[in-house]
Amino acid sequence: MTRKILVTSALPYANGHIHIGHIVEYVQTDIWVRFQKLIGNECLFVCADDTHGTTIMLRAKAEGKTENEVIAAMDEAHRRDFAGFRVNFDHYGSTNCNENKLLCNEIWAAIRKAGLVEEKEIEQLYDEQAGTFLADRFVKGTCPKCGKAEQYGDNCEVCGAHYEPAELINPVSTITGSVPVVKTAKHLFVNIEAEHQFLDTWVHGGALQPEIENYLTGQFLGEPLHSWDVSRPAPYFGFEIPDAPGNYWYVWFDAPTGYLAALWEYCKKTGKDFDSWRRNPQVEMHHFIGKDITYFHTLFWPAMLKIAGFNLPKKVHIHGFLTVNGEKMSKRRGTFILASTYLKHLNPEYLRYYYASKLSSRVDDIDLNFAELEAKVNADLVGNVVNLASRTAKFAAKTGLAKTYPDDGGLFAQAAAAGDEIAEAYENGEYSKAVRLIMECGKRANKFVEDAAPWTLKDNPAKQDELRNICTVGLNLFCQIVVYLAPILPDLKTQSEELLNVKIDRWQQSKEHLSGTSVNQYKHLLTRVGADKMMQIIEESKEDKKENAVSVPADSANDSGEALTAEPLVGEKISIDDFTKIDLRIARIVEASEVKEAKKLLQLKLSLGGGEYRNVFAGIKAAYEPDKLIGRLVVCVANLQPRQMKFGTSEAMVVAAGSGGADVFLLAPDEGAKPGMRLH
Ligand code: 2FM
Ligand code: ZN
Repeated sequence: MTRKILVTSALPYANGHIHIGHIVEYVQTDIWVRFQKLIGNECLFVCADDTHGTTIMLRAKAEGKTENEVIAAMDEAHRRDFAGFRVNFDHYGSTNCNENKLLCNEIWAAIRKAGLVEEKEIEQLYDEQAGTFLADRFVKGTCPKCGKAEQYGDNCEVCGAHYEPAELINPVSTITGSVPVVKTAKHLFVNIEAEHQFLDTWVHGGALQPEIENYLTGQFLGEPLHSWDVSRPAPYFGFEIPDAPGNYWYVWFDAPTGYLAALWEYCKKTGKDFDSWRRNPQVEMHHFIGKDITYFHTLFWPAMLKIAGFNLPKKVHIHGFLTVNGEKMSKRRGTFILASTYLKHLNPEYLRYYYASKLSSRVDDIDLNFAELEAKVNADLVGNVVNLASRTAKFAAKTGLAKTYPDDGGLFAQAAAAGDEIAEAYENGEYSKAVRLIMECGKRANKFVEDAAPWTLKDNPAKQDELRNICTVGLNLFCQIVVYLAPILPDLKTQSEELLNVKIDRWQQSKEHLSGTSVNQYKHLLTRVGADKMMQIIEESKEDKKENAVSVPADSANDSGEALTAEPLVGEKISIDDFTKIDLRIARIVEASEVKEAKKLLQLKLSLGGGEYRNVFAGIKAAYEPDKLIGRLVVCVANLQPRQMKFGTSEAMVVAAGSGGADVFLLAPDEGAKPGMRLH
């Protein structure tokens, strides 16, 4: 019977770019969804940007934008990255949509009706300069237990102690660098202890991996569950709670509802009935998430769904973290790799295949080892799978496939029979096993081609039937493998469809012969990967400081408020006309030299392109060596009134940050900017 399945990946925060750690999960989910579709199930894959919370609010403020502008830009970037990795959502939405607000209202009303809302006054640290309460990650101070400085507001990374932010010694707001005060505010809590018994049953009801069941039992269900703080006082970017004005739902309240909001939007878009999905017990809901957000998805979320009378998750598939070359991803080492950086250099299918070859149904972390990736791609994909096609298709392009499938010594039947085990492995998230079984089919097939050596027959007119038969077998075995790999390698599937003139859209095709059809000219399917590409990615990720700085939410917590305190935000507003008076341009430094008589100055010749130059004296001598500046792009104020100085005329100004002296940082545009471009 056809199953009706709703699948989700965790909603990425709208305040950071997608990196290759995120990609593990989206690829893991996408493979599962593609597999379900291939075996004929009705499967929907929805996701959305997770848009609410303090971080977005602060970021918008710092960038002088509205939250919606920040969200829109990130939405576009996320969609681009996902498409680049062939992650194929049926719908991609945003938690900041009306459907989500309505769902939150509905669930909230049900929680109220069940009498589970509690109100409590709680003490929290408050940044008076920023005018906001401080979430734990926006406070740093000395651990009250071990005395180690620079620890976050809720726990110490050195001794592991948990504490209240108000207990931190010498707390400092990481937003402004000021000393926060303790302030009381009303918060709304959900009494989830009332659902303890339900959760006990649900946790052991088959939705979770055994290690997760044990974790929840050991850490949470053994004692009464703490009520869950679901509100934040203004200012907060989110949905205002209708019956508690001035209070907003905490981002984690309206994030999982975003799954259903995305489903609702999808139903509207396609004319489907939303209720037949969300309240239909026949529908299976599968969430794929990382282990760090386990408790939101396995305690709060099922409790909310149960209270509201919606479908419960059928399964929460939880994966571990990604390490790179055995270590935590690191910006310094260049292993904190953005999805977009990877995509500039390498084929997305390499990483999809590599991750698949490492993933199992366990919660273990997985390691991306570059040498192993290279070996797997070259040996498995190029040397095994593609090799089958490349060694047979070029002959078959002339002869076509035999009308009757020839005797292959049982190879096709053996690979067809393996299909059930491979399917079971996909279903259970045991992708590494599926990959292993598929590669075994490939090895047997390659041995057949190797032994039959079609290349020795190609010029012998008397052997053309034999040649066609060999190629027919080779390409049938190849096609079987392509069907099996289709969930992992959708591009290879498309290229093979073109090569073999066949649409591959059913798992069952792995049991059906291809015969009597024509074959197109062979074009390269996948090429070998070289170590140099990986090195380029690492190098670029080291330099990619600007983008990395916004790629994880925790980053902003590391930003001290020193600079802002030294030069507080200038409050006075200017009009857009005021701004456009300043003609900011990209320029290239073509000459740079010291001005002997001046302690602080370098003389620069800036090119604006098209033979237009500006002579500039810039106070950057203590920070930059002239030789190192030549060739780089900077931003300059091109319409500054020329200024006569002792050493000559300064015709523009180079823009830099910092307080002066050695503390000066020139601005550089992203790749692609050209001299003469205007900044808007
Ligand atoms: O941890 C995160 O990245 C969250 N944005 C995940 C949210 S998943 C769901 F609940 F919305
Ligand atoms: Zn400590």
